[in-house]
This record gives sequence, C-alpha cells and structure tokens, in this order.
Amino acid sequence: MTAPVLEVEDLRVRLRTPRGPADVVNGLSYTVGAGETVAVVGESGSGKSVSVLALLGLLPARVATVTGRAVLQGEDLLTMPPQRLRQVRGPGAGMVFQDPMTSLNPVLTIGRQLVEGIRAHGDVSKQAARGRAAELLREVGLPDPERALDRYPHELSGGMRQRVVIAIALSNSPSLLIADEATTALDVTVQAQIIDLVEKLQDEHGTGVIWITHDLGVVAGIADRVLVMYGGRCVEDGTVDDVLERPAHPYTRGLLGSLPDLAAPVGPDGEVPELTAVPGLPPPPTDLPPGCVFWPRCPVRADPRCETEQPPLAVVSRAAAAGPGGATASGAHAGDGAGLPHRAATWCAEEEVPRG
Ligand SMILES: Nc1ncnc2c1ncn2[C@@H]1O[C@H](COP(=O)(O)OP(=O)(O)O)[C@@H](O)[C@H]1O
Ligand code: SF4
Ligand SMILES: [Mg+2]
Repeated sequence: MTAPVLEVEDLRVRLRTPRGPADVVNGLSYTVGAGETVAVVGESGSGKSVSVLALLGLLPARVATVTGRAVLQGEDLLTMPPQRLRQVRGPGAGMVFQDPMTSLNPVLTIGRQLVEGIRAHGDVSKQAARGRAAELLREVGLPDPERALDRYPHELSGGMRQRVVIAIALSNSPSLLIADEATTALDVTVQAQIIDLVEKLQDEHGTGVIWITHDLGVVAGIADRVLVMYGGRCVEDGTVDDVLERPAHPYTRGLLGSLPDLAAPVGPDGEVPELTAVPGLPPPPTDLPPGCVFWPRCPVRADPRCETEQPPLAVVSRAAAAGPGGATASGAHAGDGAGLPHRAATWCAEEEVPRG
C-alpha cells in the first residue's frame, strides 16, 4: 500500500450543547493513502460531517473540544497553529460541502474567487490564473466558462455553484480532498463528470479523497475503501469489496439491505419501491448507550456483552491478494487493498465471518 496522505488516530469530538455535552465523534482511526478514495457512510447524525470539520479546524473552539491526531503529510492538523492551518487548507486539503453557498463569497465574482485561490498558493500572473480558472470551469462542465468568470454566485443555479466550489477545491491540486455530500444535489450526469475529474486528479497528483455520501451506488463506483460510522464510531471498515459484499456488522447489513432493488418491478404508476431503512433511530450523542452503540436497534444481539461492553474494532478478515495487473476482485480499483484488514466492532462477527 502507498504511504498515507492522512493518518487519523483516536479522533474525538465533544460538543457543548444546551442538552449537555455531546460525544459526536468517539475514537475514530483511519488512514487515507495517496490516490486512494475512502468513502464514509452512515445515517444522518452519525458524526460524518463533524469528524471532517474537526480535521480542518472548522469547528469553533468555544463549542467543540477536539482530541486525537490527524497527520497530513507529516504535520498534525489538530495541533497546528491557526495561521498554518489556513495555509494548509486549499493546497494541502480542499473541502467541498453539500451547500455551495457556505464556501462562496456572495459579493465577489466567480472569477475573482478562483483567481485569488490560484494565486494565493502559487506564483502565477493574474492573466495566467484567469486562463487556468476558465479551464477548470470547463473541466467541471460549466457551459461558457469565460462568461461565468464575471458572474456572481447568485447569478448561477445551485448545481452550477457547486461545480464552481469543486473547481476551487481542485484548483490547487490538493493532496487531500474532502467531499461531504458534494454531488448529492447534482444530477447523475454531472455527478459522473465530477467523479471522473476527481479520479483524474488522483491519477495525476496522488490526491487522497474522503468521500462522505449516503449514496451506496456512488460508493460502489468510486471507493477503494469504506468506513461505516454509527454513533460517532467506526463500526466497520475495509476494502469496498469486503464491506459491500461481505458486511460483518449488523448495522452495515441493515444499510445495505436498504438499497433499492433495481430489479424489482416498478409500480403501476411508475413508482419505485421504498427504501427499507434500519428500524429505529440513532442514539442522540448526548445519551449514547452503554455497551455496543448499536444494541438498542440490533436484531442480532448475539452476545451477553452487547448491552454492557463496547466491542473493539477487530479484524474479521484480510483482503485477498491483488490479481494480475493489480486488480481487486471487482476489477474497478487499484490493487492497494491487498492484505488490508477488514475490521468490525461487534461481538457477533466472530460467529458469522471467520477471522483471518
Ligand atoms: N453545531 C452543533 N451543535 C450541536 N450539535 C451538533 C452540531 N453539529 C452537529 N451536531 C450533532 O452532532 C451529531 C453528528 O452530526 P453530523 O456530523 O452533522 O452527522 P452526519 O454528517 O453524519 O449526518 C448529530 O447528532 C448532530 O445533531
Ligand atoms: S455487538 Fe451485539 S448489539 Fe452490537 S451489533 Fe453485534 S450483535 Fe448487535
Ligand atoms: Mg453530514
């Protein structure tokens, strides 16, 4: 496996809320390799967004206490002075959120925002930066990029604005790109274009990607590895094949069971079947259950320890060696997954999946 771009170790985030302290991220550890895409999945409220906001110092210190380590190319993001962190955001780590207006300045033209970003981190003339800005807008599929440069964010549609934000994030070829439901609001054609562009960036610059999404179709298409979050914890992670084809944790199995059956018959009015979500609701982070964080909703409860002891993240198997040409079983991704552990935090996996 290639050297990690990012190493997260025991990341914890406690938020001060009117209902008392909320333990939103509870000991998250993972790595993102160069050129690798790690998809982070889990229901709403699992702590996905907070965990990446914490990495980039984007949670206000008065409400959030962040501990652990998050080493980006040799530097710990969590102990870095704010000034250094501002330098790192952009060329070191780019981030795209679901709502583009959180990232765009409404009073500056698109061109100015892109050009400023490009020039802030490189010795580039204004004219060359403008040329590069137009090229980036073309690459993210914006029609008439030259004209778009002179427009203000409110003059563009939501989908166009999101493509601008993605262009800004890619403009400095960051070593880490974090996409938080970045393409959720875009139509599938544009989504596919953006994913192609990110993959090109990864091939050219070895960019590591954290892709937060609830769309398991996207996960299957882009991820090398998958991290499943529940109650602020990683309950399962492994190669995309391991997690999607051999899920070990009852929660992951529940999520995968909620995939629409594409082969199912369409109703008389053209309606598609409803998703079968995991029954029940995630626990509030102010009141996490003792024992396995999933036990109140778990249909398995295979062990007397479920309600009292927290299961550690244990290896359930190891990814098979890469095939000829470095392809994994699905053939979709590089062979970096060979030998990587498939881990799950559950007392029941031992019975279901033989340990490697
Ligand atoms: N600013 C905040 N103040 C209080 N609680 C918050 C804040 N932001 C997020 N939370 C809580 O933290 C938990 C995780 O949120 P989030 O990371 O946004 O989940 P996800 O991205 O997985 O949907 C949720 O329970 C949410 O209500
Ligand atoms: S540890 Fe127990 S409660 Fe938790 S997922 Fe496994 S069987 Fe369910
Ligand atoms: Mg979120």
